[in-house]
Order: sequence, then structure tokens, then C-alpha cells
Amino acid sequence: MLDQYNRNIHYMRLSITDRCNYRCSYCKSFTPLEHKDILSYEEILKICTCAISLGIDTFKVTGGEPCARLDYLSFIQRLKSLEGCKKVTITTNGYLLEKEDLDTLKKVDIDGINVSIDTLDSEHYRLLTQVDGIEKVISNVLYAKKIGLYIKINCVLLDELSESEILDLIHFGKRHDIPVRFIELMPMKDNKRAHRTKKDVLQLLSNVQKEEKEYGNGPACYYRSDQGLVGFIEPIHGKFCDSCNRIRLTSTGFLKACLFHKDGKNIRKYIDQNLEEVMREVIYHKPQAHDFEKRMVGMSMSEIGG
Ligand code: 5AD
Repeated sequence: MLDQYNRNIHYMRLSITDRCNYRCSYCKSFTPLEHKDILSYEEILKICTCAISLGIDTFKVTGGEPCARLDYLSFIQRLKSLEGCKKVTITTNGYLLEKEDLDTLKKVDIDGINVSIDTLDSEHYRLLTQVDGIEKVISNVLYAKKIGLYIKINCVLLDELSESEILDLIHFGKRHDIPVRFIELMPMKDNKRAHRTKKDVLQLLSNVQKEEKEYGNGPACYYRSDQGLVGFIEPIHGKFCDSCNRIRLTSTGFLKACLFHKDGKNIRKYIDQNLEEVMREVIYHKPQAHDFEKRMVGMSMSEIGG
């Protein structure tokens, strides 16, 4: 459906858990919610069914770490089979994606997997995430690629990344034919720190050419270079609110119209009455733009849903 600024809102990000098996330095964990406060899969699917009737056709399953929730695979399968659901993708750190899970995701015909990898350097990865896991993640990513799943890598452009770590990721993407996207760090709870920008990455590359083709639901812009294909998502320097097409559902049932603003409503108690009306209202009043330039968000990404 169209919001008050005539944007076509057709994409919903679903956080199915606030929990994460990682403790990334820029996305610190917090006191986990109680199970009773988390929506059941049945509740989420009811909300998705209503969202579809309002014109949402694309879903991203996120967390926390979505693979950390029990039975997430059957949830994805059920979501995929809702009538009118065109596309389901997942965002994960990739650590828990065992081979048989990937085989199942292939079977249910998932439309894509975004794996967050901020560095391929095993020691730095361990320091950053508090998990000694890069080898396992790489092996999962390569298996996923081998069985024909559509994989992308997301890397948050932290200031502490060296030029060679950035180039290693780009080379890895080229070698394995996996798009790599660099994400500008958004100022959120616990992460006030310097970060790098698109310019810093582009200057490491030669023969850079802007690519017109799009590769996903979202706002990434891509460049071809001798070193490989590189994407950028720049919520602040390349603000894309005018074309924002998304809303978010937190794991507790808060329908959030914008990552930045508090606007929205907890829709859990409306699931069996007036849901469509309440969702329509939240979507219609989606704020015009974020204001990350002026202040940060007082929640971390794992609380909201990455
Ligand atoms: N800014 C940008 N990206 C972030 N992520 C987590 N916190 C931030 C932030 N403050 C990323 C994770 C993951 C995705 C879900 O969001 O690294 O790639």
C-alpha cells in the first residue's frame, strides 16, 4: 500500500528473536526478553497474512540471530507458502547454518541469504564477535553457494577494518561469485565510533564503474571494478528514505514504521481483531525520513531487528 508520502510499502522485516549467539562490539546484546513476550510463529504468520492483504509481498527474516530460534526452518517454509508471498530472504551471521539446514532452505526455495561477515581475519573476527567462528561461517557460505542458494555478504564498514581486510572480502566475493556489500554504520546504542565510508573503499579499487543492475530488495548501489563487484548501503551519506519500501516487526510484535523513529504500535493484541486497520494506520503514517545525522537511536539493532 502507499504511505502518506506515496511510497509503495511492500517489504516487511520480521525479527523472530531478540537473541543472538554473537556479541558484536557495535551491536551489544542486552538483557534477553522473556519467552512469553516473544510472538509465536502462529502470531507472526497471522500478521504476515494481513500484511499480504495490504500489499506486502516480500519478507526478510531477521533477529537477533534468526537461526538461533527453534524451528525457524519450518517457520520459513510456512511463510513461503502463504498465498501472495513472493519473496522470503534471511539475514544471519551464518554460524548456525549447518549443511542440513541449508539443504532445507534450498528445498523450501528461499530467495536469498544475507550473511554478515565484517572481516575474514580469524583473530579480528573473534575479537569483534566474541565467537571464534569465521572458518565455520566460510564453510557454510561455500556449501550454500555450492547447492545453488543465492548468497550475499554484508560487511559493516568499521573504522578498525584495515585496507587489506576490505580487499580480502572483495576478492573472496569475486572468487566465489558472491556480491559483497559494505554498510555504513548507523549510530545506535553502544556504538558511538568512527567508521569508514564508500569513498574509502572505492579508492582501493581500479577501473571503477557504476553498475545499473539491482541485486535485491533494497537500497544498495553497486560498482564493478578490477577487484570485483562491490555494493554499498549508505543510510546516512546516501540517504534513501524517499524510496524506502519497508516496515519492521520486532520480536515482541511492535510494528515499526522506520528504523530510526519510535512511531508504530505493538500490534500483538490486535491480531484477532482490527489488525488490518491498525496495520494500515501505522504504514500510512510512516515518517518521511530518519534523522541519524542529528542523533542516535537508543536501541541496538538486535533489539529492533537487523
Ligand atoms: N549500523 C549498520 N549495520 C548494523 N548492523 C548491526 N548494527 C548496525 C549498525 N548500527 C548490521 C549487522 C548485520 C545486519 C543485520 O545489521 O552487522 O549485518
